[in-house]
Amino acid sequence: MVDLHILPATPEMLPELVSLEETCFSAPWTRKMLEAELTGNPFAHFLVALRQDRSGRGVESAVLGYHCFWIVFDELRLMNLAVRGAMRRQGVGRALVMEACRLGVEQAATRAILEVRASNDAARSLYKQMGFIHVGTRPQYYTQPMEDALLMEMNPLVLPDCRQSERAHDSGGNLLLPDSL
Ligand SMILES: CC(C)(COP(=O)(O)OP(=O)(O)OC[C@H]1O[C@@H](n2cnc3c(N)ncnc32)[C@H](O)[C@@H]1OP(=O)(O)O)[C@@H](O)C(=O)NCCC(=O)NCCS
Repeated sequence: MVDLHILPATPEMLPELVSLEETCFSAPWTRKMLEAELTGNPFAHFLVALRQDRSGRGVESAVLGYHCFWIVFDELRLMNLAVRGAMRRQGVGRALVMEACRLGVEQAATRAILEVRASNDAARSLYKQMGFIHVGTRPQYYTQPMEDALLMEMNPLVLPDCRQSERAHDSGGNLLLPDSL
C-alpha cells in the first residue's frame, strides 16, 4: 500500500501540471495561467497529491492530482481541480478539496464558493458530498463547449464531515491506495 501526500506544488512540476490540465479539460488553462497561479498570485494556493511508497522508498514525483484555490479574506474560492484518469474514484479529489477547506478554516475564511459545468456530474457529486449546495446559475459561462456554470457554496465553511467510504487510512489519517495503481 502507499500513502497519499498532499503538498504545495512547485514550479518544477509545471510541465506535469500542464499535461494533466490538457488531458482533463476541453478548455484547459495555459502554462502561463498555471504559472501565474503558482508563482504570481498572493491569494492562490496550489496543492498536488503525490504518493509515498510505504516500503520507505520515499515520495514518488508523479502528480496524481492537483487543486488550485484562492483564499481571499473571508472567502475560499475553489478554482481548478483535476485528478489523473487512472486515479479517479479513490478519494484523491476529496482529499484535495478537504485540504483546501482545512486551510480556509485555518485562515479564517467563512464561506467557500466554486463554479462547475452543469454537465460535470462527477465534480458536482464530489462537491455535494462535501457539503456544497447549488445556489445559482451563470448562463453560458463556459466555452468549448458553451455551457452554464452552476454556482455552489458552502456557507458557513466547515470541515466537511463526508463519508470516507470503505477506503483504508493509516494511523496518521493518510489515505492508502493499492500499490498497483
Ligand atoms: C471531478 C474529479 C476531480 C473527482 O476526483 P476523484 O479523485 O475521482 O474523486 P473522489 O474519488 O475523491 O470522489 C469523491 C466522491 O465524488 C463523487 N464522484 C467522483 N467521481 C464520480 C463520478 N464519476 N460519478 C459520480 N460520482 C462521482 C462520489 O460521491 C465520490 O465518492 P465515492 O467514490 O465514495 O462514491 C475528477 O473526476 C476529475 O479530475 N475530473 C476532470 C476534471 C474536472 O472535472 N474537475 C472539476 C472541475 S470543477
